[in-house]
Amino acid sequence: MAESFDVLIVGAGAAGLMCAIAAGARGRRVLVVEHANRVGKKILMSGGGRCNFTNTGATPANYLSTNPHFCKSALARYTPADFIAMVERHRIAYHEKELGQLFCDDSSKQIVRMLLDECAEAGVRIETSCSIEKVRHGDAGFHVDTARGAFTAPALVVASGGLSIPSMGASGFGYELARQFGHNVLPTRAGLVPLTLSGKHQERLADLAGVALPVEARCNGVSFRNFMLVTHRGISGPSILQISSYWNPGDDLRLDLLPNEDTFTWLQMQRAERPASELKTVLADCIPKRFAQRLCEHWLANKPMRQYHEAELRTIADLLGDWPLVASGTEGYRTAEVTLGGVDTDELSSTTMQSKRVPGLYFIGEVVDVTGWLGGYNFQWAWASGHACGGAV
Ligand code: FDA
Repeated sequence: MAESFDVLIVGAGAAGLMCAIAAGARGRRVLVVEHANRVGKKILMSGGGRCNFTNTGATPANYLSTNPHFCKSALARYTPADFIAMVERHRIAYHEKELGQLFCDDSSKQIVRMLLDECAEAGVRIETSCSIEKVRHGDAGFHVDTARGAFTAPALVVASGGLSIPSMGASGFGYELARQFGHNVLPTRAGLVPLTLSGKHQERLADLAGVALPVEARCNGVSFRNFMLVTHRGISGPSILQISSYWNPGDDLRLDLLPNEDTFTWLQMQRAERPASELKTVLADCIPKRFAQRLCEHWLANKPMRQYHEAELRTIADLLGDWPLVASGTEGYRTAEVTLGGVDTDELSSTTMQSKRVPGLYFIGEVVDVTGWLGGYNFQWAWASGHACGGAV
């Protein structure tokens, strides 16, 4: 005999647990099925172990989606302030690191503990190490066969996340289930991910691995100003992770290496004030010395500042302000923080996350084609979409 519930949720991650809390608080009998051996593994590993759990400035503009309007309703109805209120109720100390990013002072374990305590209070049952064998839909609702028996419910919520970090339990389950029920799944790719370089850029930069510098990264009309980190295989750091979500193979990628200066005017000033200094020495005031030297070895002619004509300074300024880098690819799902694309929002209700095709079927969190920037935005989408769904199931 299958055990019956009001709501079955697949995935005990950020979105699934929030949905369970909201539905359980409404008196729904909720079962969360998780195939990993513990809940919230991505929460635990997030933010370097301190979980960047939200961003105080989160708006729909911080999300990528084929339909940029889809996320608006859920984000407006469950805001960063709502999640902060829960964090404060549980007396979890936190701080703002930068740009509205809130982190636990102590450990991301506190966020998982908080969600589990809220689940317990709402009477939610959670089954871990419970893999799903089959999902069927009939007159009586959904019938799910799992390693721990069969369960039925009129509502099935898919909160199984994206493809990033397979070693942490990520699976394509949600996309397969969406297809099984006739949903369109938009092409997926790794987001918030280091970029790889090849050819001369890779050869010339590889031994600078570990060097970090502020840049403005630009691609497809979008730009992010923050640090870039040179890696053994390419480039990373917050500015690159952010721009990676907007980059597709073959796209033009540009870096402003002196984002805090009007580069041409700054070079003219340096020439006037330090005419005997070489370009590489002058640049080393703003750019890490080894990186400045490398630029002068391969991309810029190095000589004393007094020897540069106006037109040469203009060429150097143009190159430093709009340095073209040819990325060969990304590091892929192995290191990506998120998966772009996913379940097409056209076939979901933006207020409840319910399928327009199959009544009682819901998709929330990262499995949906809504992806946030780096900085707490992805958890905020998980909380908000989970809460919207939990209020409706
Ligand atoms: P999530 O991945 O959290 O949960 C899905 C759950 O479903 C998992 O527990 C999984 O095991 C389970 N599951 C999958 N297939 C299943 C199946 N077949 N049966 C049963 N269960 C199944 N974001 C942010 O805002 N701030 C941050 O600091 C970070 N940091 C960060 C670091 C790293 C290393 C990564 C990889 C990601 C982040 N993120 C982040 C992104 C954030 O972790 C992500 O967007 C959310 O966890 C998505 O929440 P979901 O609940 O949708 O999926």
